[in-house]
Amino acid sequence: MMKVLLIGNGAREHVIAETLKKNKETILYSYLKSKNPGIISLSEEFEVGNYNELEKIENYAKKIKPDFAFIGPEEPLNNRVVDLLQRIGIESIGPTKSLARLESSKSFTRHLLKKYKIKGNPEFEIIDKNNIDRAERFIKDLKLCVIKPDGLTGGKGVKVQGDHFTTKEEALEYCNEVLQEHQRVIVEEKLDGEEFSLQCLTDGKTVAAMPPVQDHKRAYVGDTGPNTGGMGSYSCENHLLPFLTKKDIDEGLRITQKVAEAIHDETGQFYKGIMYAGLMITKDGVKLLEYNARFGDPEAMNVLPLLETDLVELCTAIIHQSLHKIKISFQNKATVCKYIVPKGYPDNPVKNKKIEIENIPQDAKLYYGAVDKMNDGLYITASRAIGCLGISDSLVKAEKIAEKAANSIKGPVFHREDIGTRNLIDKRIMHIKKIHNLNQKI
Ligand code: AMP
Ligand code: GLY
Repeated sequence: MMKVLLIGNGAREHVIAETLKKNKETILYSYLKSKNPGIISLSEEFEVGNYNELEKIENYAKKIKPDFAFIGPEEPLNNRVVDLLQRIGIESIGPTKSLARLESSKSFTRHLLKKYKIKGNPEFEIIDKNNIDRAERFIKDLKLCVIKPDGLTGGKGVKVQGDHFTTKEEALEYCNEVLQEHQRVIVEEKLDGEEFSLQCLTDGKTVAAMPPVQDHKRAYVGDTGPNTGGMGSYSCENHLLPFLTKKDIDEGLRITQKVAEAIHDETGQFYKGIMYAGLMITKDGVKLLEYNARFGDPEAMNVLPLLETDLVELCTAIIHQSLHKIKISFQNKATVCKYIVPKGYPDNPVKNKKIEIENIPQDAKLYYGAVDKMNDGLYITASRAIGCLGISDSLVKAEKIAEKAANSIKGPVFHREDIGTRNLIDKRIMHIKKIHNLNQKI
């Protein structure tokens, strides 16, 4: 028997729970912020609590005595939950607070790449209240810029010139605004290219990449509207993406391997868990936008259901640093995930409304996120509610399954119909072709 304590309450944790439970020896215990019906149905027992209630987490862990813990979201990582569990002799899949700076501090990560001469950084400057005049000069020198708060903002603090503001004056204004709340702000050159997520497992020595996924951050069809945590994502049966080559993926993996080594040299600690690289393929090759210290949400739903290797075995290998001994394999299938979200999401979501699920296609999978199971049915809270996943031999078929599943959820909700469709993918391919043509002309 293998006792696992899972911390987290979203669709990402629902798929983690499902994948851990594929091993018949697993007894799952969960600590979650809200009663996610998907996770609860897979758990032997659960405890509801916030991720900053450290005493509660400690007491629950002491009661359960799990063989290891799996930390889903960034919030408990940032609240030192892994450090706490380590102190009481429980190993985790997830980094300590110091190592999780890879996600929680963008200045830490940019510095790390620079100090260890790892390729992938765009031009950047780290600005604090004492050198704001440097921001002005740097913004002036850049054609277009991106402004990033140096802290966790749930993916909503980054502002991109041309998308969220237009002039250099507005850029500087936003820098000043960020500095009211954060110690530092990062100014970066705006890169042009296509984004992809490369989720890697690591034991601090070995880094193994999972199939690449493309997420869709904008709320509305055609990549319009405000930024969200991610409206849906797809992956391909050949474990590439239509605009990516194997060489690009290897480059992303190489960057991540070097970062795993560098962060050990920097802190003396081995990073054990998930290093999710948010990458962009540009005219100058693969660039790093950010690291996350956890699986992506929704991207976990694309890769975990395809995993052929036992996740519990992988977790044990991560803890014992024997990941190099395991061959990790994934089914050669395409996946499309579409999130059902409340009307008005992300700025003004409707809350506590009932939804009905009618005639879900048999081959679709549903992963519960921000939903509450009440006596009289299922209610959406205020965020991404249900991830609808299609898995098939081709992207076309996977998209059809996901779309049908999304349409069978009735209530005040919406989703992006265009995710995984030929039209949108052709747009991505054209974009990359244009960038490569530009390259040839230079
Ligand atoms: P981040 O949290 O750093 O991944 O930024 C959020 C989003 O902002 C990314 O997914 C990109 O769409 C965009 N972004 C971040 N950095 C850059 C950059 N240097 N150039 C262009 N877009 C960026
Ligand atoms: N889908 C983006 C993230 O998980 O950060």
